[in-house]
Amino acid sequence: MSKTLMAMLQYDSWSSHYDDQFMRQNKYAAPREAFNAVAARTDVARSNLRMLDVGCGTGLLSEEFRRANPDAFIAGIDLSSGMLREFRKKNVANELVQGSITGRLPFHDASFDLAASTGVFELITRPANVIAEMSRVVRKNGLVAFTSPHNWFDRPNTLEKYTPSLTALANWIDRGRSHREAYMEHAMRSSGIEPVETRQFIGYQKNGGKAPYQLYIGRKLDKS
Ligand SMILES: C[S@@+](CC[C@H](N)C(=O)[O-])C[C@H]1O[C@@H](n2cnc3c(N)ncnc32)[C@H](O)[C@@H]1O
Repeated sequence: MSKTLMAMLQYDSWSSHYDDQFMRQNKYAAPREAFNAVAARTDVARSNLRMLDVGCGTGLLSEEFRRANPDAFIAGIDLSSGMLREFRKKNVANELVQGSITGRLPFHDASFDLAASTGVFELITRPANVIAEMSRVVRKNGLVAFTSPHNWFDRPNTLEKYTPSLTALANWIDRGRSHREAYMEHAMRSSGIEPVETRQFIGYQKNGGKAPYQLYIGRKLDKS
């Protein structure tokens, strides 16, 4: 079975209880953390704001932006039809696309003020490609924000401890290199994004453990 199909089926079956289980029981904090950090750097309430939620799932991150800006244009893309079905029920997004984020994103160049992704990069083998695409669809001086697991792949069994159901996925993640801070910041700069903030936070809690995440925010360079 392909990795992509595996991820899709896993999230399809999780979708109807994802919000309750992950956000409320596991205190999933990434969407709120990313929103707050972005809101500290740009006027999220401004009219005509255009935001892309990359690997949007059930829309927890988009909901934060919608609460702050009822008029924003919010688009999302995700592989899982189940997660997108839950997102649609909320009536939060203007446009939702089912598709993979590992290839070319189905959006025009420079068509968003902001592209953000939470809780997704740990499932992606080559985040640099996703960062490059997020950069392409964001306008000059716009923001790119994403979370990434912090040092999960340096320690054996860490992922299993936090997320037993994702153990299989860990087998195909290129552990280490592609999720380190230096790699991420290099990938941002190579894509014309200047890193403006990198910070650690606790992404969620499970089985007595705390899953450390890294939040990255970058600004698309004027001259890229
Ligand atoms: C842990 S959920 C996070 C969802 C949402 N961003 C959030 O913060 O709640 C991971 C999401 O990534 C999606 N995903 C995984 N691999 C993907 C890919 N290659 N392309 C698009 N979406 C993908 C899954 O379908 C799932 O909805």
